[in-house]
Amino acid sequence: MNTAKRYLITSALPYANGLKHIGHLAGAYLPADIYVRYLRAGQKDVVFVCGSDEHGAAITIQAMKEHTTPRAIVDKYHAILESNMADLGISFDIYHRTSDPLQHETAQEFFAHLEKNGDLETRESEQFYDEAAQTFLADRYITGTCPVCGYTNAYGDQCEKCGSTLSPEQLINPKSTLSGNPPVLRPTRHWYLPLNKHEEWLRGWILGEHGNDWKPNVLGQCKSWLDAGLQPRAVTRDLDWGISLPAGTPGGEGKVLYVWFDAPIGYISATRQWAKNTGRDWKPYWYDGDTKLVHFIGKDNIVFHCIIFPVMLKLHGNILPDNVPSNEFMNLEGDKMSTSRGWSIEMEDYINDFVKKEHGGGMLVDALRYYLTVIAPESKDSEFTWKGFQDAVNSELVAIFGNFVNRSFVLMHKLCKGKVPPLHTPRMDDADRNMLSAFEKTKAVTEQLLEGYKFRDALFEVIDLARKGNKYMQEKEPWIIAKSLEQTPGNQELIDNCLHICLQLTANLAVLINPFLPNTARKMLYMMKVVEKMLDWENAGKTRLLSAGYSLRAPELLFRKIDDAEVMEQVEKLKAKAAALSTAAGDTSAAIPAATEVAPVKAEIQYDDFAKLDLRVGTIVSAEKVAKADKLLKLEVDLGFEKRTIVSGIAMHFSPEEIVGKQVTVVVNLAPRKMRGIESAGMILMAGDADGKLKFVNPDEPVANGSEVS
Ligand code: 2FM
Ligand code: ZN
Repeated sequence: MNTAKRYLITSALPYANGLKHIGHLAGAYLPADIYVRYLRAGQKDVVFVCGSDEHGAAITIQAMKEHTTPRAIVDKYHAILESNMADLGISFDIYHRTSDPLQHETAQEFFAHLEKNGDLETRESEQFYDEAAQTFLADRYITGTCPVCGYTNAYGDQCEKCGSTLSPEQLINPKSTLSGNPPVLRPTRHWYLPLNKHEEWLRGWILGEHGNDWKPNVLGQCKSWLDAGLQPRAVTRDLDWGISLPAGTPGGEGKVLYVWFDAPIGYISATRQWAKNTGRDWKPYWYDGDTKLVHFIGKDNIVFHCIIFPVMLKLHGNILPDNVPSNEFMNLEGDKMSTSRGWSIEMEDYINDFVKKEHGGGMLVDALRYYLTVIAPESKDSEFTWKGFQDAVNSELVAIFGNFVNRSFVLMHKLCKGKVPPLHTPRMDDADRNMLSAFEKTKAVTEQLLEGYKFRDALFEVIDLARKGNKYMQEKEPWIIAKSLEQTPGNQELIDNCLHICLQLTANLAVLINPFLPNTARKMLYMMKVVEKMLDWENAGKTRLLSAGYSLRAPELLFRKIDDAEVMEQVEKLKAKAAALSTAAGDTSAAIPAATEVAPVKAEIQYDDFAKLDLRVGTIVSAEKVAKADKLLKLEVDLGFEKRTIVSGIAMHFSPEEIVGKQVTVVVNLAPRKMRGIESAGMILMAGDADGKLKFVNPDEPVANGSEVS
């Protein structure tokens, strides 16, 4: 049971560099919101903070892409993100921003405190530098080919296609996104947080103190970091967009705080700003041990919130997080969700296509919140499909929850004069008593699951209670009893009992569903003509929430069905968006034709056999047809170390003009051969598919002539 004096709940600060998708929503925002709404319903002192992460290369790169300034980018996306979150019912007490002066002041004070206490070290290291742009390059400014999957646009820190974490040195053919040139290494001096010095404490705190209450996926990641041995981590960067080092820091000119040093401090400045806005004191939330601090994040943020930030907090004298519930990733229709590849559903899109499209869009907000919670990637990656969304809404929300509430109201109006009927205790049977006792049981189990951050299971319990309600009503059949009331008027008491219990159950369902589906809970309050106070968590489990004789409103539709056309439209939209983006990015993987017929693999060879081949890249400098030979072209190929004449059987596939200037791969140590009287000194490699079309085999980007192919 939650017994802390106060609660500070944070959700990872999203980068204000673009729209965020529903996978983000499901990862760090929706679960936090459910938890916070549960705490608030329990009358806890709780503050829920978030804000935009507005520094770092994510922002400056987006500014380059949009041909504008970082300031314009963060202003634009901060406003969008703030409104998207609010539209989807994420009830932050404050949505702050890290470019705010209060954040600059807070982060500089934090750095100065650590520096003054000797908790930071400086050291010189070699970092990638763009000579043309005259600047050091953050990892995100370096792109190249992913050594794992071959994606040609991988970043220096991560491949967005296969998800591998990378460092810039691992990229094949790295180049600067500023000038397009390959970067060079240059020495520079930075401040480091010596994580290695805190390894023992971290091990005890994470694996010892929290070994039983943190989620296994979080503990697992922490353990592998700790087992690999922690290294000092640079907390400054050579950039011009970010928070400057405190004035007067020797050697600090031109340097800014690393975005991951600055961002989590954003939680503190957000709390400070909230306190300013509300006239409260922020300090107990960060200094008093009676505060329970919980960080909700996605799995790519675990190391920062479980290892780096806790070390910073400890050194600075703050409280430490009590828990860091992190989710795994949510995939989409069979592939990894990614905004940059267009394989995503942005919050903004869902809001425009569903929520804002119709009056009472709150039910569609709740429909999304519902599906994202039942498929929450709490312990492993999960998958969003539009069909799954449709099924969950239609067969659970509409058919179970909505149906139960609606039937209870309709029957109460029809059979009990629109009022809550009394409960006639002497006429109660076991089914009635079992139904009533299920209220308290569901409350206890749901509460325990919510406190253990198991939102998916908690929601299941609530829906299961509605399912039990349907079953109970179906067994009692008050509409059948009503048919014989003339003969047995005393049986009105049985009808009263059934509907009394169903209506008390409806009131319970409103309390229990409120943290998950707040719009639904409010609509139910309206139908029951009761005030918001009824949603207090302590009311869950109670069997007398509605007074007998109280007249209730007519039922309103709680949810509507999602139809096939809506689902198809969304799937088409998704495919079209991904195809458009992959063409724009020059990623042809989506356009690779399926193999129709594949030649059998030849007999195995040894490496030595292969090593005998000398393959080089060359450029065709001239090409002409060979007289009286339809299929042959005579080529002049520049191999860097010499030019060679090569006769190639490609005349049916290419005209001489179209291939001059192309780079090709040449077998240069093949014995010369005479063809139509011309000596051919090499062979050009070609790829041919089943329908006979030929393509040159060449590097995906130009390389020096004579480069070896191995
Ligand atoms: O991964 C991200 O999107 C980061 N902007 C999260 C920052 S969380 C916190 F530390 F601010
Ligand atoms: Zn990759």
